[in-house]
Amino acid sequence: MFRLKKLFFAIFILSLAYLNVAAQRTEILLDEGWKFSKGNFPNAAEAGFNDTRWETVTVPHDWAISGPFDKEIDKQVTAITQNNETRASEKTGRTGALPYIGEGWYRKKLNLPTLKPNQKVLLQIDGAMSEPRVYLNGKQVGQWNYGYNYFYIDITNDLKVNDNLLAIHLKNMPKSSRWYPGAGLYRNVHLIIKEEKSIDQWGITVTTPIVKKEFAKVNIKTKLTGSGIRLVTQILDSLGKQVAIDTAKGIFGNEADQNLAISNPVLWSPERPYLYTAVSSLYEGNTLKDVVKTRLGIRTISFSAGIGFSLNGKVRKFKGVCLHHDLGPLGTAINTAALKRQLTILKEMGCDAIRSSHNMPSPEQLELCDEMGFMFLAESFDEWAKAKVENGYHLYFNTDAEKDIVNLVQANKNHPCIVMWSSGNEVPDQFGAEGVKRAKWLQEIFHREDPTRPVTVGMDQVKATMQSGFGALMDIPGLNYRVHLYEEANKVFPQGFILGSETASTVSSRGIYKFPVVKGFDKQYPDFQSSSYDLEYCSWSNVPDDDFVMQDDKPWVIGEFVWTGFDYLGEPTPYDTSWPSRSSYFGISDLAGLPKDRYYLYRSRWNKTKPTLHLLPHWNWEGREGETTPVFVYTSYDSAELFLNGKSLGVRKKDKSSPQNRYRLMWMDVKYEPGILKVVALDGNGKPVAEEKITTAGKPYKIVLTPDRKEITADGKDLSFVTVSVVDKNGVPCPTATNALNFEVNGAGTFKAVCNGDATSIESFVKPSMKLFSGKLVVVVQSDKKGGTIALKVKGKGLENGNIEVVSAK
Ligand code: GAL
Repeated sequence: MFRLKKLFFAIFILSLAYLNVAAQRTEILLDEGWKFSKGNFPNAAEAGFNDTRWETVTVPHDWAISGPFDKEIDKQVTAITQNNETRASEKTGRTGALPYIGEGWYRKKLNLPTLKPNQKVLLQIDGAMSEPRVYLNGKQVGQWNYGYNYFYIDITNDLKVNDNLLAIHLKNMPKSSRWYPGAGLYRNVHLIIKEEKSIDQWGITVTTPIVKKEFAKVNIKTKLTGSGIRLVTQILDSLGKQVAIDTAKGIFGNEADQNLAISNPVLWSPERPYLYTAVSSLYEGNTLKDVVKTRLGIRTISFSAGIGFSLNGKVRKFKGVCLHHDLGPLGTAINTAALKRQLTILKEMGCDAIRSSHNMPSPEQLELCDEMGFMFLAESFDEWAKAKVENGYHLYFNTDAEKDIVNLVQANKNHPCIVMWSSGNEVPDQFGAEGVKRAKWLQEIFHREDPTRPVTVGMDQVKATMQSGFGALMDIPGLNYRVHLYEEANKVFPQGFILGSETASTVSSRGIYKFPVVKGFDKQYPDFQSSSYDLEYCSWSNVPDDDFVMQDDKPWVIGEFVWTGFDYLGEPTPYDTSWPSRSSYFGISDLAGLPKDRYYLYRSRWNKTKPTLHLLPHWNWEGREGETTPVFVYTSYDSAELFLNGKSLGVRKKDKSSPQNRYRLMWMDVKYEPGILKVVALDGNGKPVAEEKITTAGKPYKIVLTPDRKEITADGKDLSFVTVSVVDKNGVPCPTATNALNFEVNGAGTFKAVCNGDATSIESFVKPSMKLFSGKLVVVVQSDKKGGTIALKVKGKGLENGNIEVVSAK
C-alpha cells in the first residue's frame, strides 16, 4: 500500500510539472500484501471478515508447491485411452501428488485515491488456477472458468472512494488435469487506471502487410473510446529513435486505422530478434489523455505446399520444444528470471521455437520470446467437448471456447514471436463428424480474430483425421508422434506439408544408465528411473533419431516440437502407477533445468554456431569391471576415435545403416575399466579437431557451487540458480553422489527452492535440505529489495563446505 501511495504522489508531482499532461494511464502490479487461505469461507468476500490469521503472500503465488507430496492426492483410477490403455489402473502422481485440489481465497485491500469523474479502472488477471470468482467490496464483479487464460474487468463503478476490498475465490476439482496445474493466483494481477477517453485494453492491432527490403508498411488499428480526440502514432527503432510518425486522419466508428512506412526495416528472426516500439498517444486538444507502447517485430511467415515454412522468405524447419507451464521447484508461479533461464538453456541448445502445451502462455514468456528470439506456437486447449479427464475443460467448452480464444488472440496478437495458433491437442473430438465441425468453428474464430496466422491441432488419431476431413481442414496439419504415418498423411492431406507438432517422448533420468543397452518401449526398473542412453520411449512414441530422419529426408516436413524441453510436474510415464514418482521423464533437461545427455544430441543438430562433443555414460562403474558398457558420443562432428586409458577403441563415423548410426557415434562393446575415457573428434581428413574426456572419480570430498548469474537485481523477485555438485580430492566431479546437503542463505536474499531432478524424490522443494541426485542439484536464491551480497553456504557430512556470493543491486 505504501508503494501505491508513493506512486500516486509521483504522478501528482509529474502532473504539476506538465500542466497540460493529465493523469493518463497508470499500471499497478498487485503483487504484495495479499492475504491467503485454503478452504472455503462464506464471508471472505466481505470487508468485515477477519483474515489476520491468514498467510501473507506475494502474487504470483502457487499454494500447492510447498507440498507435502502425497500419493493419495488426486489419485486417478483410469485407463488413459490416448496412451492405448484398455484397463483402468491407479495413477499416482499424475498431477504431481501436490495439494492443488480444493478451494482457496485471496484478499487484498485497495486504498485508491479519489478517482476523477472521467477515470476508469480495470483489473486484469493473467491467469488464476482455477475458476476465479472476483469480488469487490462483497460484490461479485467478474469470473472466468479456464485457469490458463487472461481476462480483465472494468471495476470503475464498484470502487469506493478510499478503502476497497478485493477478494478472489479459486477452486480446483480433482480429476481436472493430466499434469500438475498449480493452484492460486499464479500469474500477475494488474490494476489499470486510465481516462474515460482512452485506448481500449488490447485495442491496438499491429500487422505488417508489406515487407520489402526497402520498406515495410505497418498497419496499426487502434480501438478508442471517446470523441473529439486525436491519435498520434510514432514508431521507434530499438534505440528509441523515431522512424515513422502519423496522425490518424479519420476514426472509423471506434477505430483508427493508420499505415506507416519504415524504410530499410530490420527484420525480426530468432537469430536477430529486432524489435520496434509503436507509441500511441491520444490527445484532446493539447492535453495528452493516454499513451500505450506496443512492441512489434517486422517479419513475414508463409506455409506453402512444396516449399514448407518460410520466415522472411527463407525456408527453415522448426527446431522446437513443447513446454508445460510449471517452473519445476518454483511450481507454476510465474517468474521472469526462471523463464529467462529456461530460454537461455534452450537457446544454447540451438532451439528456435516453443509450443505452450496445452494452454495459453504467460505474457512474460511471450515477451521473452520476442526479445530472445523464439518462434511460438500458442496453444489453447487439451480438451474440447469430449472428456480426457472427468472434470476437464469439456465442462466449459460449449459456453467458453469462443471467449477463451478471443482473449488468447486479443491479448497476444502483437507478439512477433507467435507464428501459429493451436486450437487443441489430441482432442478426443478427432473422432466423429461433430469433431470436424468443432475444428472448423474454432479455426474460423482464430481467423476472424487474427487473419495473419494459421491454426494447427496436435493430432494423434491420424487415421481418423485422414478419413473424416478433420486433418484436411486445418491450416497446418500437426502430427503428434506416428512418424510411420507421415508419408501417408502427407498424401491424403491437401496442405502439402506436415508439422511434427509433438515428437519423441523419449524418457530418461539424468545421469542414470541401464544395462544391457537395448532400444525398447515402456521399460521399467525397480528404482523407477529410465536410462540416459536415450533409447527408451513409450508405446505411442519414439526415440529422437526417428524424428531426425523425417526432418532431414522429407522436405515437406516443416519441423518438430519435442516433448518436452524440460521435465515437468506430473505425468510420470512410464511410472504412472508406481510410487514414489511424481514428475515426468520426458524432458531434454530435468526438472531442475540440468541438461540430460539428450540435450547434446539435439544440440549437435540444432546449434549451428558452436560445435558439440559429448560423451556418455559417466565412468564410475565400480563392480562392473570387465562388463560391457557401451559408450555414445553426441557430436556435430562426423567421426571420432575413442580411447580408454590411452588405448584406442577405434574410430566411428556416422552412416545411414540405422537412425542411431546416422546421428550418434556408438562403441557398443566397451568393457569397463576405471580410468580416463577420451573421445577425439576428427575432421574430413582424419585430423583431430577437438577432444573431451571423463575420468573415474574418487570419493566425494568437496562441494562446488556454480551460479547461472553472479549479479542479480535487488527487486525482491530476481533469482540466481546455483548448481551444486561434489568433486573428489582431485577436483573430478562425482557423478553418482547422493550426499544429503543443507543450505543456508544470508545477506541480501533468501533461500527460495531446491530441486535435484529426481522424479522419485518426495523431499520438499521449499525446505533448505536435499540429497544430490546423480551428483547434482540446483538451489534457487532470491534477492530482497535492499540489495547487497547474498551468501549461500552448502554443507554436507564429511564434505568441505561450498560457499558463494551473489551480488544483488538496484
Ligand atoms: C502426448 C500428449 C502430451 C503428453 C505426451 C506424453 O500424447 O499430447 O500431453 O501426454 O503424450 O508422451
